[in-house]
Amino acid sequence: MCGIVGYSGPGNSVNSIIEGLSRLEYRGYDSSGICLKLNGELQVIKKEGKLDNLKEILNKMNPSSHTGIGHTRWATHGAVTTDNAHPHGNEIFAVVHNGIIENASILKKELQAEGWEFKSQTDSEVFLVLLTKFYKQTSNTLQSISKTFNLITGNSSFVIIEKASDKLYGIKRSAPLVVGENKETREAFVSSDPFALVGFAPNIYFPQDGVICEGVVSETEVKFNFYELDLKPSTRIKSQANAMTMDANSKGDYEHYMLKEIHEQSSLVDKLAGFYIKNEGRKVIEDLDKSIPAAFHITACGTAWHAGLVIKNYFEMDNRIRCFVDIASEFRYKNPILNKKEVGLFISQSGETADTLACQELCTEQDIASYSIINVEGSTLFRNSTKNFLIHAGREIGVASTKAFTLQALTGFLMSRAMSKTLDKPEVYQEIITLSQRINEVCENSEQYKTVAENIFHKKGFIFTGRGTYFPIALEGALKLKEIAYVHAEGYAAGELKHGPIALIDEDIVNIAVVGPELFEKTVSNVEEVKARRGVIVTVGPKNNSELEHLSDFYIGLNFDGLPNLAPLMVNVVLQFVAYHIAKLKGTDIDKPRNLAKSVTVE
Ligand code: AGP
Repeated sequence: MCGIVGYSGPGNSVNSIIEGLSRLEYRGYDSSGICLKLNGELQVIKKEGKLDNLKEILNKMNPSSHTGIGHTRWATHGAVTTDNAHPHGNEIFAVVHNGIIENASILKKELQAEGWEFKSQTDSEVFLVLLTKFYKQTSNTLQSISKTFNLITGNSSFVIIEKASDKLYGIKRSAPLVVGENKETREAFVSSDPFALVGFAPNIYFPQDGVICEGVVSETEVKFNFYELDLKPSTRIKSQANAMTMDANSKGDYEHYMLKEIHEQSSLVDKLAGFYIKNEGRKVIEDLDKSIPAAFHITACGTAWHAGLVIKNYFEMDNRIRCFVDIASEFRYKNPILNKKEVGLFISQSGETADTLACQELCTEQDIASYSIINVEGSTLFRNSTKNFLIHAGREIGVASTKAFTLQALTGFLMSRAMSKTLDKPEVYQEIITLSQRINEVCENSEQYKTVAENIFHKKGFIFTGRGTYFPIALEGALKLKEIAYVHAEGYAAGELKHGPIALIDEDIVNIAVVGPELFEKTVSNVEEVKARRGVIVTVGPKNNSELEHLSDFYIGLNFDGLPNLAPLMVNVVLQFVAYHIAKLKGTDIDKPRNLAKSVTVE
């Protein structure tokens, strides 16, 4: 999703803006740009492609400016071109935008009929033209922002600078926006992500929807003013010290953030168990058994949805609590049947996924309590939920989610144990420690998965299969491979292949079959059906198994002992490595795969 950084202060805005945008590159984008106040004028410099293209231009210009805004664009309306890149500017204002203006085409037609001209195909430029129109009528920036914002619909955040002053302005609706101050250095910052302000702004503020933020830097101080749309002072802001650190921003000895994050899982699993069973997380989870809902409505997107399917198994098998699991973009429009005795459970790494946020809002409108399983404290979902279950994964930089999935599912497992009052049973903590150890063993065997990848990466297609809780693992394994290797892969319930997909099988198709101890023989039969049609067989199952040895072209044996519930999370790490090594052989951009964004803040 788009990245936004704004700066005003005694320093050179270029440095802070480019540093901030660099930190947001992991979110995914396809063009970038900056607008600087230079000699009293607004100068826009923008370029399609990677941020390095913009840096190259700036290095030649070597501009020095005290006020500016920058943007990395993930295209929603309009092709990936320099004209469509942000900022959008004219002689009065410059604007950057994250999100979608849903009524942009109607507004654009009306403005064009009034004689206003447009330079781009974007919805974002409509905000600039409206703002300019109202400013020409009122000569008042705050009034113009209010009038403009009242007219547009959709989830968006906007940051604005103007020729008339060195102020920073920001406003948002169901999209991320944070403002920051450094009172010591008299600097003001705005961004779509607090991570961009780490080390710059000790104090950050999260404005609520519809609050106009105005950052003012004078000779003696820096201050943000906040206004409602009627321009009365607003108090709808949450402030906090910027507790984030920079350590997440280094790959250490790893070639990719994704590889680092795969390797972090073992220790993070161990820490999460300690957090919820022995430390401060205990009080968050332990009263779950006092208000067990009639049902959970689990909604999420992508990998988080797969984690929801795993959690459904835990809640229904352990607690006999009915769980509905929906893809968020489906749930929000299906007029779901909800009951006040039920709970909405929203799973999200970023806490900013538009479809998931919309589901949370839908539940809130119907007085349904909202729980979140979430990684980013202070995110929109975090602030809007009744109860938050943090996964403490640390910053996940790789666009393809790895450690977040494992910790989302594990948090769900811990919640299921809390609801069945078995959190303190020794075998619960022991199983999690065993999982941590087994994931570590998997990480130590990475070379084996690399060899498998070398033998299959050139194949035409991949079908991941599993039964029971291994079915969502098959879905997640397929998604990982699609995301980072750009190859066609599907996840299927193992018993389902004979109902159609088996027609795909030939010597150019690989079946990566997860064969768990449960329903072992039935799953082996499914694999035999594929083998009979010359499919390439990769199995991931219990080690030292002669049947799997004989059946497989490539057999990855694991120790499932001591993991009656959490083995699927161990298996998933193997699939993460297989995807990683295939992607490396394909030479793709593993940490920032094409077309993808880390947080999809638009519909
Ligand atoms: C996972 O590898 C993908 N990056 C994507 O499916 C992601 O899980 C999905 O967009 C949901 O994101 P969230 O967890 O931040 O809500």
